Amino acid sequence: MELTGKTALVTGASGGIGAALARALATAGVDLVLTGRDTERLAALRLELGDRHIAVAADLATAAGRARVISSCEARPRGLDLLVNNAGIGSFGLFETLEEADIERVVLLNLTAPLLLTRGLLPLLAQAPEAAVINLGSAFDTLGYPGFSVYCASKFGLRGFSEALARELADSKIRILHLAPRATATAMNDNRVEALNRALGNAVDTPEAVARAMIRLLHGRRRRLALGRAEGFFGRLNALCPWILDSGISRQLPVIRRFARSRAEPL
Ligand SMILES: NC(=O)c1ccc[n+]([C@@H]2O[C@H](COP(=O)([O-])OP(=O)(O)OC[C@H]3O[C@@H](n4cnc5c(N)ncnc54)[C@H](OP(=O)(O)O)[C@@H]3O)[C@@H](O)[C@H]2O)c1
Repeated sequence: MELTGKTALVTGASGGIGAALARALATAGVDLVLTGRDTERLAALRLELGDRHIAVAADLATAAGRARVISSCEARPRGLDLLVNNAGIGSFGLFETLEEADIERVVLLNLTAPLLLTRGLLPLLAQAPEAAVINLGSAFDTLGYPGFSVYCASKFGLRGFSEALARELADSKIRILHLAPRATATAMNDNRVEALNRALGNAVDTPEAVARAMIRLLHGRRRRLALGRAEGFFGRLNALCPWILDSGISRQLPVIRRFARSRAEPL
């Protein structure tokens, strides 16, 4: 996709990966609709990127918030060419300790909201000469991992949505893309997840590395891109022979349990 002169909606633009995606798209000549709930962060990003972009504060977990974002996109003079479903929340904890409300919140924001936003914006995207939707998955959308059961459920669901909708729209002008980062240094990961990544020796990317991968995905012909050679390999191995990974992951359980039971410190 040629990016210059296009218009994109980036959800979660007030966050670590979202802001990096927005900067990369702006540099490529894309006009942006930046959304999130944190008005100050959004205003600062818009100031940094310039006034050809707009910021729309909205809670995507609500129908009113999604409607506000959709009508702001409909009001853009050049329509919408690209939807980046990036907003999301983490969830680390042993399943039996998670609150019912937290489980609902994770599934609502990570899975239901991008589905509904995509549905609401497809008619506008269909008017563009070529359009794309990018859903932000995760290395945990192909590998079920202890301590992340609800997050995995939401991201596996989102990957299934990306795959099915891509096939449903295969003969249309709208490409459905899926970008799966591995652990990335943002506020989504609290002190316990950071400590777990250190203890297990997990590689942690910068948000800028994720943004570069998004640009590669947009310019290329692939539909799905997973960051990290090892993470990609384990994801594929898990799809073919999950039992091979069961025992290795079980050996990590004591470490995962220790961090899951430790105290989360405010970010
Ligand atoms: N960080 C990682 O290790 C990692 C790895 C793989 C995939 N990912 C995925 O990458 C995406 C971005 O995550 P991140 O690491 O950049 O996290 P982040 O820095 O915490 O940013 C999350 C973004 O989501 C927005 N958001 C949260 N709740 C919202 C709501 N109810 N309505 C609207 N926006 C909401 C936040 O905006 P406000 O705070 O302004 O509401 C923020 O802009 C997520 O989908 C995540 O699952 C992250």
